[in-house]
Amino acid sequence: MEFSTHTSASLHQIKTAALAVGVYADGVLSPAADIIDRASEGLLRKVVKAEFQGKAGSTLVLRAVPGVSAQRVVLVGLGKQADYAPAVHAGAERAFAAACIQAQAGEAVSTLAANPCGESTMRARARSAAIAAGQAAYRYDLTFGKGSERETGLRLRKFSVWAERADAAQAQAGAREGGGISHGMDLARTLGNLPGNVCTPSYLGETARKLAAEFKGTLKAEVLEQKQIEALKMGSFLSVARGSDEPPRFIVLKYTAPRAASRAKTAKPAKAPVVLVGKGITFDSGGISIKPAATMDEMKYDMCGAASVLGTMRAIAELELAHDVVGLIPACENLPSGRANKPGDVVTSMSGQTIEILNTDAEGRLILCDALTYAERFKPSAVIDIATLTGACVVALGHVNTGLFSKDDALADALLRAGRQSLDPAWRMPLDDAYQEQLKSNFADMANIGGPPAGAVTAACFLSRFAKAYPWAHLDIAGTAWRGGKDKGATGRPVPLLVHYLLEQAGKG
Ligand code: BES
Ligand code: MN
Ligand code: ZN
Repeated sequence: MEFSTHTSASLHQIKTAALAVGVYADGVLSPAADIIDRASEGLLRKVVKAEFQGKAGSTLVLRAVPGVSAQRVVLVGLGKQADYAPAVHAGAERAFAAACIQAQAGEAVSTLAANPCGESTMRARARSAAIAAGQAAYRYDLTFGKGSERETGLRLRKFSVWAERADAAQAQAGAREGGGISHGMDLARTLGNLPGNVCTPSYLGETARKLAAEFKGTLKAEVLEQKQIEALKMGSFLSVARGSDEPPRFIVLKYTAPRAASRAKTAKPAKAPVVLVGKGITFDSGGISIKPAATMDEMKYDMCGAASVLGTMRAIAELELAHDVVGLIPACENLPSGRANKPGDVVTSMSGQTIEILNTDAEGRLILCDALTYAERFKPSAVIDIATLTGACVVALGHVNTGLFSKDDALADALLRAGRQSLDPAWRMPLDDAYQEQLKSNFADMANIGGPPAGAVTAACFLSRFAKAYPWAHLDIAGTAWRGGKDKGATGRPVPLLVHYLLEQAGKG
């Protein structure tokens, strides 16, 4: 979807397929609704009185409103004015976008971001409007038949954020940021939704290459193959990959912030990069410790960490972020075979530490640990890994919060704040050394599982042993990267959190 801003003073003269105006509970009109009401000589107020309560997220589409140029005016409920908050605003924008699609409007203008909302700035509201509209308008169509409704059905292609003239610059900056984040989320969602027989490790590698070709000036991709991974001695990663006929890939995607040529001589040297590491298990059967069949299909989503790294890299390239970032993705399948890991096997990681594999289904940590060791070469200012790592994290936090693990309070706080502000929340989990004891092995430096108690914590503890050379945080997105059930699909999380965090880092002097 394309995003833009609109700052025409006379709302009633905007030519668009659908114009959103907000109505609070009990029929209180927003300023924009009031303008449309006056242009239509009181029609809006009458309609609201008769049949629109302004319940948060409700919509009513009005066609051919007299005195108004827009083809449709969409009333969007904002709930009680006293309770109006950023999350309510985002929900209202999503409801508007859904109503547009339902009403076959291919393009839309929303005035909802112009309504004051807590302490938020116009920029933040415009950003959130774009993200919300993009979320609602997303549609996966890649594996439906040619000419299917999915493929040919109308799409919402253009979304414009309306703002008062005085707020135009802020609105524009926000819509641009939201647009970048939205495009990153779209990519992450589509990669997640693609089936395992299409989205293979090589497919992820090709996606990284295509991104680098699209953003030639700032993105560079290196896609390492089996031989090169062997040369790096990533014994732990390779032990998982060995169970499948599908060859592994280790993706290195480097973003170099554009440096203004005129400033080149005086510019300070580039700050140390942030490294993002994404779990790229393109299908997790569990391996020899095989999973039950019932929802095993959902394990195509086990590369959502990788997808969020590619989505974030796409967003920052589009936004020309002023900070260097490196994306690392170990990608392979976890399958049972004659060459697969067996419970009791001991492997040697790139760091030299040995690992006793007591459960082959705890494979995410086995591929991430070698990527964390590889990350050392960038002398990073921070490393953040993103992984659908444990079912235990879903038990602990459900589908609302991403699990955040870090010993670094400053990094943890920055990520928590980014999550809150981008409506993509995370919750900090413990990482006390006392949990490390659960990883003791009689036959290697550590075991790859720590038993049933605190499974999400012991997984993070395992990773921490490979992340000692830099400030590090781990995001367990097992509960937030996709939704199951009737509306099964990838969410694009935590791309908003990550991009927000990186924008904040780049903004610091
Ligand atoms: N990819 C899974 C984690 C997962 C499971 C995410 C279900 C979302 C839903 C991971 O590789 C895994 O299988 N973890 C095991 C670890 C256990 C063997 C210690 C798990 O959570 O059961
Ligand atoms: Mn697993
Ligand atoms: Zn897994």
